[in-house]
Parts: sequence; C-alpha cells; structure tokens
Amino acid sequence: MADRYLSFTGTAPGRFLTRRLGLPQPAPLRRWTAEQPSLAGDLLHLTAGKSDLDLAPVLARTGLTAGEHRPAAVVLDATGVRDVDTLAEVHALLHPVVRSVATSGRVVLLGAPLDPEDHHQAAVQQALEGFTRSLGKEIGRGRTVNLLRLTDAAAAESTLRFLLSPRSAYVSGQVVGVESTVNGGAVTAPDGWDRPLAGRTALVTGAARGIGEAVAETLARDGARVVVLDVPRAEEDARRVAERLGGTALALDITAADAGERLAAALTDGLDVLVHNAGITRDRRLVNMPGDRWSSVLDVNLASVLRTTDALLSQGVLRPGGRIVATASIAGIAGNAGQTNYGASKAGVVGLVRSLAPRALAERGVTVNAVAPGFIETRMTAAVPLFIREAGRRMNSLAQGGLPVDVAETTAWLAHPASGAVNGQVVRVCGQSLLGA
Ligand code: NAI
Repeated sequence: MADRYLSFTGTAPGRFLTRRLGLPQPAPLRRWTAEQPSLAGDLLHLTAGKSDLDLAPVLARTGLTAGEHRPAAVVLDATGVRDVDTLAEVHALLHPVVRSVATSGRVVLLGAPLDPEDHHQAAVQQALEGFTRSLGKEIGRGRTVNLLRLTDAAAAESTLRFLLSPRSAYVSGQVVGVESTVNGGAVTAPDGWDRPLAGRTALVTGAARGIGEAVAETLARDGARVVVLDVPRAEEDARRVAERLGGTALALDITAADAGERLAAALTDGLDVLVHNAGITRDRRLVNMPGDRWSSVLDVNLASVLRTTDALLSQGVLRPGGRIVATASIAGIAGNAGQTNYGASKAGVVGLVRSLAPRALAERGVTVNAVAPGFIETRMTAAVPLFIREAGRRMNSLAQGGLPVDVAETTAWLAHPASGAVNGQVVRVCGQSLLGA
C-alpha cells in the first residue's frame, strides 16, 4: 500500500497545502544504494568535557571527512561528561550547528556507561538519553539522533559506521550500548567491509515475503549464503527469493515439533547468522480472544523461537562468532489494544534476548540481539484499517512508515562479524514512534 501522503507532500502544491494546514511534513528518506553508499556531506566531530576515546581513526574509516560544508553527520563525544556544568557543553556545542545539519543527516551522541559509584556522572549520562530523544523529536527533515554508549571506539566501529550511514534511515531516538572488547565482545574485523558476511551462512525464517525477504536480500548483498525458510504453502515464493539471491529455500513450519532436527539436517555445514523473523498476528481484545488465537501467536512468535534457538545452540549448529537476531516489535514494548497475545509474544522475545545474550557470548561466542520494528510498510500493515494505519504511519518523528529494508539493514549491522561487542540490545526500527518509551 503506497504512502500517497508522502508522495503528495513531495510536490510543490502538496508542500504548500500541508504547511498551511500545519500537517506533518515527512521528508523522503535517503537510503543506502550501491551508487551512493555514504551520507553526502562532511563530518563534524565535537567533544564535550575530556574524552579518553581514540575516536579519530575509527571516524576516518567511515568515509566521511571534516570540511567546510554543511555537516551530513555530527558526532558529539560526551563520554567525559561527569557533571551538570560540563553537560552544558552539549548544549553549547550543538546549539549553533544543529540547524545546518543536512537533510537526512545524522547526529550521534557518544555517552559512557552509567557509573554505579558516582551518581553525578550517572545523572548527567542518563540526561543524554532525554536530550537525544527530545532532539530526535524536533530535528525534522529526515534527520536522526541516536546515543551510543561505549568505552572502546574500536569495538564500536561497525555500529558507528551503521549509525553514520544511510542504512540507519529509520532508526532514531535509540540508545545502543556497545561493550568493550575487554568484557568479552568477540569483535572480528571483516576481510572486507563491502561483503562482511562472505563465506558465512544465514538462515532467515519467514523470508518468502515482507521484512524477511528484505533481510535475506540484504544479508546476501553482504555476502552471506542465505537459507530462505517459510511455511510449505509459501514454498514457491521462498524458492523464487532463494533463486534470486543464489541461496536455498527450506519449506518448514517453524512450529513443527521436529523443526530443530529438520534445521540441523538442512544445515550440516553449520550456521553463522540466525534471524528469527517469522511472525503472525491474530488480533482481538482479550475479552473476545479464544484460546487458539492466543496459542497460535505465542507458538510462532515465541515458543518456536525458544525451541529452535535451543536446538541450534545445543547441537553446535550455530558456530562460535555466530549471531542471533530475533524480531520483537514496539507492541512488545509499549503494548497495543487488541494485541495481548502479540504484545506478550514480542515482549517474551525481549526477555529471551536479555537473558541469553551474556551466557551465549561467554559460553559460545554468539551474540543475541533483537530488532523491534515500528510501523513498516508490508502486507501485515496493509491489512490494518485505514485510520489506524494512517496514525501508525504518521505518529513518529519521521512522519512516515519504515520500509522492510530498514529492518534488514539493522539486522545486517547486528549480524556483522565486527558487531561482537553489541550484545543483548533491543534496537527499535520505528522512526522514533510515539508509541512506547
Ligand atoms: P509478513 O506476514 O509479511 O511475513 C511473515 C512471514 O512469516 C510470511 O512469509 C509467513 O508465511 C511466515 N511465517 C508465518 N508463520 C510461519 C511459521 N510457522 N513457520 C515459518 N514461517 C512462517 O510479516 P512482516 O510484516 O514481514 O513481519 C515480519 C516480522 O516482523 C514478524 O515477526 C512481525 O511480527 C514483525 N513486525 C512487523 C511489523 C510491521 O510493521 N510489518 C512491526 C513489528 C514487528
């Protein structure tokens, strides 16, 4: 279902009319293309307080350079901010430049982990979250604002590259934590940043269409050999996707009791990236929800994710250095009327990620993260009634729905060999939806 409002506001009369009426002004987002893989413009690197980060060499490798033009990206290193006086530097540094940040540009704040021994440091570092989310809501023109907490710039290279690129077009208002390599993050520099997944195998569930298809496509672009899994009735579509991407199709209902064994049998050469994307909705208010609508949603969205994760980890199919990316939803964070089943299942995914991530990394060198999409233009959301659909599309800082590729790019960053220090994170791909925190 095309976003006609976004097309309309892109025309001169549309812009004039919607401005006069005070309606949302979505800017067409600039996404990654092979021809234009980077942001167009300069990088402005600012520092508030005294920082110990060795950031310059990492920033130099993003392809962005300092210059005299409008910044396409502003990186404000606030890791050294420990008190309210120094916090004022965040305002002083950004206040004069924020207006000049290019359309579809990026503002990335760097913060430190909260210090449990120093409540002044913790207060002002937490303050950066409120600052980030507020600036994200007001900055407009397709620009995004995110906060990255880190202690080691090298461990955060893949994350900085993602946040400072067109790949993160629909990720805004997020706080991402990157551990230091010292804390056990298995960070492997890829042989090449263009095809970081070359020689790796990725399994994407529910990949015959929608977000899963885009994930398979993006992981294949990054060099992975993809296994496109979907239910038997979608086998033809799954095969079409697999053929296009040079991968293989696997017709399997992920809720089948023997799904774990069937997967292990199909992945005898091992697996590097496991993307739990298959998901369903069966909406009804709780008073009208029969047991089968509850159990089918919980089975596909949560129980099968738990079962297949356990099977692939315990049988050693998922290799050391492996990546698990599960699909949550903002409905699992904020809740949604008519979705007690779906909200419960997606919140369950968040719980799984938080609990398993530290153990999987320590014991098997595998990271576990989640993407939490907001309103993404797919068949699932095309089926939503018109007014709710329009509200979902507009009620976010970018005033538009995201595309499947936005979730796919976020997944590809989490699946990256150099993202081993990103673990236990739940990253919303929601244009900073007004729903939820
Ligand atoms: P979709 O309905 O277009 O695609 C889902 C795919 O999963 C389908 O190909 C379907 O056949 C497959 N599938 C369903 N049950 C399966 C099973 N038992 N075994 C194997 N495959 C199965 O959905 P969409 O929109 O692409 O969503 C993908 C994921 O993203 C889901 O987990 C969904 O909950 C989540 N999500 C989507 C949002 C959106 O706005 N579209 C928002 C938040 C989360």
